Amino acid sequence: MLTVMFAFAPTTSPGSAPISKPELYRELVAAALALTEDEPDGVANMANCAALISTFLPDLNWAGFYRLARDADELVLGPFIGKPACIRIALGTGVCGTAAATARSQCVADVHAFPGHIACDADSRSELVVPVIHDGGVIAVIDLDSPRPARFDADDTAGIEALALAIGARIQH
Ligand code: SME
Repeated sequence: MLTVMFAFAPTTSPGSAPISKPELYRELVAAALALTEDEPDGVANMANCAALISTFLPDLNWAGFYRLARDADELVLGPFIGKPACIRIALGTGVCGTAAATARSQCVADVHAFPGHIACDADSRSELVVPVIHDGGVIAVIDLDSPRPARFDADDTAGIEALALAIGARIQH
């Protein structure tokens, strides 16, 4: 029987200072590239990337993907870690639909203050949504939710944008 174990986790050593956020994201992107390198199936790659995000980043209650639906006027739920979520989101609606429609990351410190925020998990207090752009267009968004207000900052935005850039060609479906 073939047994394969993937041990992808952030670098830590007993007694050492925690690594910086930029370094954590460099490790996350490297792990995502390594894990998706030889796999052509976009759904499998999104599933493993969601698992990596959840493993590397603390204080998340939801992490995953929404993909642009084939008719391209809405997002549809993709692989994720967290509670069951709304399945389809119209472009321009909520945090995810805004990120997809504008092709710009949305870093939301207080989800209750975001007009049209779609509450999938009542525990969510802050949210980061980053568009995945491939061949000149948005093909998906990466969505992170946290139960902690203002959980995400510019380092998180830059880090997830780097991840989106790295895996864009590997999550097509
Ligand atoms: N809050 C998102 C909906 C997706 S869930 O957070 C998983 C939004 O407003 O688009």
